[in-house]
Amino acid sequence: MNLERTLILVKPDGVRRNLVGQVISRIEAKGYAIVALKMMHADRQLLAAHYAEHEGKVFFEPLIEFMQSGPIVALIAEGNRVIEGFRKLAGTTDPTTAEPGTIRGDLARDQGTKVVQNLVHGSDSPESAEREIAIFFSELSEVKGN
Ligand code: RTP
Ligand code: MG
Repeated sequence: MNLERTLILVKPDGVRRNLVGQVISRIEAKGYAIVALKMMHADRQLLAAHYAEHEGKVFFEPLIEFMQSGPIVALIAEGNRVIEGFRKLAGTTDPTTAEPGTIRGDLARDQGTKVVQNLVHGSDSPESAEREIAIFFSELSEVKGN
């Protein structure tokens, strides 16, 4: 058994383009379980924590700005090897060259924006998943009764 959980985000471009259902359908059709889900507006502090690894890069500010440009959908998916499995479903970062058949390859393209808009986020390792789930679903990890 290698039961994992991963954080998936439908980014503002995905919500704006009414693709939430298609993203969720692909996760469900692959056989992963959705164990938590919410629509939210992420603030700068939350996004800076989430994307801390990219601080200082040229695309950091445009990325944080873009991620605040509208509501997002955050969800936790669960299954054996779901971290690797969802990254495959999502496709590579650049939507122009992402494989057809993937979410980014089928549904996104270069829009000429300052930062790549590629519809979804998925955690890239068990450590990232644990960290990101705690950021976006802090209510699930709060210690109760103390
Ligand atoms: P994500 O974290 O959003 O799932 O995407 P990823 O792992 O495929 O890509 P990552 O390297 O973590 O980058 C995070 C997001 O920053 C934007 N980005 N732009 N060279 C660029 O212009 C560039 N590199 C990254 C993308 O929006 C990417 O999803
Ligand atoms: Mg990443």
